[in-house]
Amino acid sequence: MKKVKDVYSGFYTVDDAINMDVDTVKNLQETYSNKLKVVLSGGKYFKKAENAGFIDHEGKRHVDMMGAVGVMTVGNNNPFIWEQIEKVFKAKSYIMGAVSYHNIAAALYRNLALTTPGQKLTKAQISGGGAEAIEGVIKLCKIAQRNKPNKTKILSTINAFHGKTAGAVSVGGKDTWQMYQGRLLLDQVTHIPFNDVEALKKELSSGIYQGFIVEPIQGEGGVHVATDEFMQTAREYCDKYDTIFVADEIQTGCCRTGKFWAVEWPNVIPDVITFGKGISGGLIPLAGYIAKAEVYDAAYGSAETAFHHTATYQGNAIAAAAGIAALQFMIENDLCTAAQEKGKIIKDSMLEAQKKYPGIIKEVRGRGCLIGVEFEPVQAGLKEKYGENWAMECEHYFSEEFRIQIMHSFNNPKVFRWLPPLTAPMEDIEYALDAFDKSVEHVYKLSKG
Ligand SMILES: Cc1ncc(COP(=O)(O)O)c(C=O)c1O
Repeated sequence: MKKVKDVYSGFYTVDDAINMDVDTVKNLQETYSNKLKVVLSGGKYFKKAENAGFIDHEGKRHVDMMGAVGVMTVGNNNPFIWEQIEKVFKAKSYIMGAVSYHNIAAALYRNLALTTPGQKLTKAQISGGGAEAIEGVIKLCKIAQRNKPNKTKILSTINAFHGKTAGAVSVGGKDTWQMYQGRLLLDQVTHIPFNDVEALKKELSSGIYQGFIVEPIQGEGGVHVATDEFMQTAREYCDKYDTIFVADEIQTGCCRTGKFWAVEWPNVIPDVITFGKGISGGLIPLAGYIAKAEVYDAAYGSAETAFHHTATYQGNAIAAAAGIAALQFMIENDLCTAAQEKGKIIKDSMLEAQKKYPGIIKEVRGRGCLIGVEFEPVQAGLKEKYGENWAMECEHYFSEEFRIQIMHSFNNPKVFRWLPPLTAPMEDIEYALDAFDKSVEHVYKLSKG
């Protein structure tokens, strides 16, 4: 057998990669991929990850309070999920599901159906990432409604985030992500203000919408919770005007908000739910959607259209096994209750900091373990030094002084976002809350000049 290093002298094996020193990693990233990732990550490089902790190249532990932006619901490198994935290898299972079917994906579809509100959503399709799932629902709406010529558009909300592929940025409500790409699908999408019930009624009653897509909580947009009235009106008007109601739960699903799906809070049953992030325990790319049978079959129930939305890795058995394992882990370990209890402790602590250090925190929002803290603007004379609002300085101090990983909302950088693994031990959460108090105290003192 040939040796790969004899063919390509600079080839790195997996063993080489695992043992690579930090300077080589940075050099390879800068040379062979996006160089700014090295700079914008604050130069941090983590070698290991376990539950709510990362170990950096110097062996120092960092506390993870962002869970790869809400992915690590079951904790980093959850051993139970790895064990279940290994079983697929040991069983030499058939892996690919794009144009065929197999046991592991079929079991995941069934399990997902069991979790849906009222068990009314029963037809699932899985894909690699969240944006691909959104492309899937845009097509689902269009193909299901294809014989209704008056239905020409999709309704969405301003400030929404649904991913970064062409269709996903079109239904997304932030023009930053639509730039430099021509017209995209923008002629086919209307955006209304989030939580504007009158605008929702007006648009839906026009009857032209194939689908309405909304996040139960706008996560990237700055943790804005949809009101019960908004979600319930959406249900009522989508029924009345024959529009497919899609809840994008890629960030809010999988127990994140304290219920398995966030639509359980306003008690609505959408026609379609998208899922991603926590669904595979963060180990294997997995996302998708689950729809009411009549909607799914209206789109893909005929031989003519059955294969209109396939992709090579759709239904992949390893991803499906990760999905089954993560569902089992979330349910058996009651992560919804954990999200409610830990989330309450975090939220109460944020509200306390807001009172204790006036003028720094504007608002605390969210549900379960998806909590946003909106910071006040920095006063005129200090902007040059500390930026537009206090979130950046607070985030910087928090992560540098205390080695805690947290992330602001991408579409709304004045909002600092807590998205801890739901399995995070209380010692880590308490450590982070104490550090947060000290970080707000730090910016409070700066604000006083
Ligand atoms: C609500 C929502 N939809 C879709 C996406 C896109 O998912 P992905 O990054 O896996 O493409 C995200 C990602 O943050 C999200 O929060």
